[in-house]
Amino acid sequence: MPVLAGRELLVRRLKDEDRLPLEAMYDTILPLGEALGLPPRDATLRHEWLAGMREAIQLAGFVDGRLAGHLALFPGDDGAAELMCFVHQDFRRQGLATALTRAAVEEAQAAGYRRIAVFIDTHNKGARQGLLRFGFRPVWEDLEEAEYSLTL
Ligand SMILES: CC(C)(COP(=O)(O)OP(=O)(O)OC[C@H]1O[C@@H](n2cnc3c(N)ncnc32)[C@H](O)[C@@H]1OP(=O)(O)O)[C@@H](O)C(=O)NCCC(=O)NCCS
Repeated sequence: MPVLAGRELLVRRLKDEDRLPLEAMYDTILPLGEALGLPPRDATLRHEWLAGMREAIQLAGFVDGRLAGHLALFPGDDGAAELMCFVHQDFRRQGLATALTRAAVEEAQAAGYRRIAVFIDTHNKGARQGLLRFGFRPVWEDLEEAEYSLTL
């Protein structure tokens, strides 16, 4: 019988020492601009975009010790934290976004947020399915963008 080696997932707060591995993850993410124009396609803009997140709550996700996912919570409207999450294409469908989002719920609750909002491309079926499965509910959508929300 074949033995499938389990991969080890780890989620923790992003640290200063993660800056270079995080840039490397985003520099090799394909396609760039996939999620409402993010990550920025231009390398300089992309690195500035990451540097500009210092005030956000940021989590890093690791698969077998390699930084493979990143989640950030930004202050939004009406007591909401706005969640952004990217998992490198080589490490998708292994539960990393789910593990990051689970940790983000605890972080958002501890920070006093009342809900988590996520804005996705309307055609992003994978993210939509994952958000619904996690317990997020649709708030509105137009032809380009959709908002999903989780009450804490
Ligand atoms: C959306 C994204 C974060 C999902 O990351 P992930 O680590 O692969 O997600 P998970 O493995 O935790 O998936 C959880 C569930 O979401 C759904 N899902 C995720 N990707 C999917 C896809 N491509 N197609 C269909 N369903 C998908 C599935 O229900 C999945 O559970 P399953 O694998 O047991 O069927 C990742 O594809 C990504 O980085 N996309 C680009 C950025 C983006 O769109 N972010 C959206 C929020 S800002």
